[in-house]
Amino acid sequence: MKIILTGIAGFIGSHLARRLLRDGHTVVGIDDLNDYYAVSLKRDRLAEVASVRAFEFVEADIADLEKMRALFATHCDATHIVHLAAQAGVRHSLERPELYVHANVMGQVAIFEAARKLERCLHLLYASTSSVYGTNRELPFSVEQRVETPVSLYSATKLAGEHIAYTYGHLHGVPATGFRFFTVYGPWGRPDMSYYKFASAITADEPIAVHGFGEMSRDFTYVDDVVSCLVAALERPPAPDRTGVRHRIYNIGNNRPTPLLDFIALIERSLGRKARRTLVPVQPGEMISTYADITETQRDFGFRPATPVELGIEEFARWFKSYHCVN
Ligand SMILES: NC(=O)c1ccc[n+]([C@@H]2O[C@H](COP(=O)([O-])OP(=O)(O)OC[C@H]3O[C@@H](n4cnc5c(N)ncnc54)[C@H](O)[C@@H]3O)[C@@H](O)[C@H]2O)c1
Repeated sequence: MKIILTGIAGFIGSHLARRLLRDGHTVVGIDDLNDYYAVSLKRDRLAEVASVRAFEFVEADIADLEKMRALFATHCDATHIVHLAAQAGVRHSLERPELYVHANVMGQVAIFEAARKLERCLHLLYASTSSVYGTNRELPFSVEQRVETPVSLYSATKLAGEHIAYTYGHLHGVPATGFRFFTVYGPWGRPDMSYYKFASAITADEPIAVHGFGEMSRDFTYVDDVVSCLVAALERPPAPDRTGVRHRIYNIGNNRPTPLLDFIALIERSLGRKARRTLVPVQPGEMISTYADITETQRDFGFRPATPVELGIEEFARWFKSYHCVN
């Protein structure tokens, strides 16, 4: 099948692209290669994707509506879209909220607007986040829960993205599935995320800031498990709901939260070095704990998180040491 994949130079997008190309699909990848974190890492990921098989790469801003319309018109035979491009990161959204509205709200509208004009848009998959659960206290987080307390601009824009997707289903019949990812980690990961920052600081013998005085926990989810779920979901667009709208939301999480301090211990073990820890309070916009209820994801896509954190962190550390040339 022919798939338009946004955010292809990103962490999850590059892993998914490799899998799709290996599976024999045609991929048209979009990314604006912005400098939120090292552009060299994004380019290296693209080279890694290209090493599997040739694919078309378009450097473009997904929020540029006219460009997206023209691009999708050129590829009007594409049947599937996986929309992962976004301005990610909770903390940065406190400093640069406008970037989040641009990429995650206008970008979401532009992708859905362009998609609805495809000849046969069979399924549009898009990324949401566990952050939409905001101040919800009931764990595990279930897609049945109400989500109306986003505590960062990042989560507010992602929640808006879910509503936009529903509206395009209602108005234009675009079949779409949103996935709330829970702290995805692995090789080729994101340098702005805590596990990567910890690894960088530990190998540089610098202190690490442990937020929430070490009381936080996360449902760390290995990237290959996320990719497997997206691949399984591609050919399973949602059935119409009671009102005929084809839109659903799922959690993708490990279903096994790990205390942050245990996670740090695993990184230390994998890197063979000790961290110098500084315990600091929870930062504004952060959640204390995340834990995914994956009942629906298991039922509809056979999703099974197959990678224990012990193994996943080993894989990340192996890649980290090789990519950054550290022993
Ligand atoms: N990694 C996680 O733990 C996690 C958790 C929850 C949700 N998500 C969501 O999953 C998706 C992928 O995340 P990721 O971790 O791979 O992030 P990432 O930042 O590595 O990838 C996103 C990519 O999108 C691109 N991009 C950003 N704005 C763009 C724009 N306006 N036009 C074109 N390209 C643009 C970036 O250059 C980047 O390569 C995002 O939507 C993110 O919000 C990720």
